[in-house]
Amino acid sequence: MCGIVGYVGDKQAADFLTEGLSKLEYRGYDSAGIAVYDGEKIRVEKCVGRLAALRDKIKDDVPQGTIGIGHTRWATHGRPSDVNAHPHTDCSGDFVVVHNGIIENYLTLKEELIEKGHAFKSETDTEVVAHLLEEVYNGDFEESVREVLRRIEGSYSLVFMCRQHPDELICTKQDNPLVIGLGDGENFIASDIPAIISRTRRTYILNDGEMAVVKKDSIVITNRKGELVTKKVFEVNWNAEAAEKGGFEHFMLKEIHEQPKAVRDTMSQRVAKDGKSIVMDELKWTADYLNDFNKIYIVACGTAYHAGLVGKYYIEKLARIPVEVDIASEFRYRDPIIDEKTMLIVVSQSGETSDTLAALKESKRRGAKTLALTNVVGSSIAREADQVLYTWAGPEIAVASTKAYTTQLILFFMLSLYMAEILGTLPKERIAELVAELQKVPAQISETLSDVEPIKTFAKQYGFNEDVFYIGRSLDYDVALEGALKLKEISYIHAEAYAAGELKHGTLALIVEGVPVIALATQKSVYEKTLSNIKEVKARDAVVIGIAAEGDDELEKYVDHVMKVPETDELLIPILAVVPLQLLAYYAAITRGCDVDKPRNLAKSVTVE
Ligand code: G6P
Repeated sequence: MCGIVGYVGDKQAADFLTEGLSKLEYRGYDSAGIAVYDGEKIRVEKCVGRLAALRDKIKDDVPQGTIGIGHTRWATHGRPSDVNAHPHTDCSGDFVVVHNGIIENYLTLKEELIEKGHAFKSETDTEVVAHLLEEVYNGDFEESVREVLRRIEGSYSLVFMCRQHPDELICTKQDNPLVIGLGDGENFIASDIPAIISRTRRTYILNDGEMAVVKKDSIVITNRKGELVTKKVFEVNWNAEAAEKGGFEHFMLKEIHEQPKAVRDTMSQRVAKDGKSIVMDELKWTADYLNDFNKIYIVACGTAYHAGLVGKYYIEKLARIPVEVDIASEFRYRDPIIDEKTMLIVVSQSGETSDTLAALKESKRRGAKTLALTNVVGSSIAREADQVLYTWAGPEIAVASTKAYTTQLILFFMLSLYMAEILGTLPKERIAELVAELQKVPAQISETLSDVEPIKTFAKQYGFNEDVFYIGRSLDYDVALEGALKLKEISYIHAEAYAAGELKHGTLALIVEGVPVIALATQKSVYEKTLSNIKEVKARDAVVIGIAAEGDDELEKYVDHVMKVPETDELLIPILAVVPLQLLAYYAAITRGCDVDKPRNLAKSVTVE
């Protein structure tokens, strides 16, 4: 989720590059860099920190030249640092590249290239692309880039520069955005429209596998086979603010829609080549190592805590190790029993939440082995923990967390399968079956997102004015908690989640005619039980919206409306079932005119107690 820009024309490239990057900082802001051809060589300037740090670094000696590329980074492989910042170069400095995405086979390529004598400077996956280009370069820039593309696997948008071809940039994309802005005697490249909108509104939007050779007065686009592609000019009619949100009205909605990609990225490199098991190169755990633990604590705040609840279920069910889940602000003060036989897993999107960080430090002090699940490379929690697993969700801007939650669930699921295989707690065939189901999840989320109209209608129809109750059993209860939190956070409606079986011990007293109840009934193992609880609220004339899996024709007989999500293993359904709840909260907030991205009294990252 980085930002990319490129310029070729008559003007000073650095001006556009830094201006364009400033519009893309929402895509990544841990380091930035530019590369400009100065008539002799390609000069690269980059540094850790926000773009302001780069601007400061070059202010007295701005690279001069009329062709260049730039990048603002959101770290995936390699912590934020000067050397890991883009652009990346080969050994000679003649080949320079900026990249957004993940090169999945970079480790194999890196080993090969090191054997051939290439010297690497950074820890990034991107640097292999520059060295690979140097390796295969045969005097024909375009053909050499094609050869590189044949050898790399993964998701990317890439822009290449070559000293020997100082009047052209080559760019391409696969599963990541890339646009070309058409100017007069100049052309622009960017990962996103906001970067170019102040210079031109005429664009070509590249499709996967397309490659463009961009010069100041020509753009030639070809497909994977090298055949010419004729593209229509896309006139951007959004304003700059809408463009930043990719055309969505709010960051939250954009982030909800980014979930298929965020989930796919988080899975990438963690599914074995044969698709039958999970690999976690970051951990390299053994049965001896795992058998040493008698307990796991999962500690987190807010949405990350809700992900932890699902994580507990996964680990206990699949790997059979006892797990306790705690709210970080409680855990740190309750004198929990921790020693060397304890594993502590902290979950944090930002990696900066003060209570979670304190719980982590305290547990370490008492001898626990620690693992962090976080979205921010180089964050305080990532640095403090013994080991880290990253969710590759990209920056999450909206205060209400969405894609961080689904990617945390994915990571917990993979971690549990990984542990199950090591410990032999699940037959290999069952693991393979679950990995196969897991790989369908991104497409299933897309399917869930493909028709939001009924959800919009529910949000309007019911108005959701006072109280809304969310009920479910087992994993459905965990998702209900997250659904209720979403509604509270952004629409300010009082929402509570209850374990459906617990209703009769108090909450049922609040269920009267017309009270909205969102009832999750996706868990086959407790389906009949949930159904009886739904009948209990229906008997009190509640308005019930059910969430069910495709193929369930029963629930609609007992509720007012049903929202369906694709059918999958009941363990994976939470990752799908939360999506309509996120959308319901979003549209309820819109109906009430709330500031969705910046809800009152709340902050994205809580770095104070
Ligand atoms: C804040 C945010 C929530 C988030 C929680 C934990 O309350 O508004 O969306 O779930 O902090 O944040 P973390 O970054 O640790 O996941």
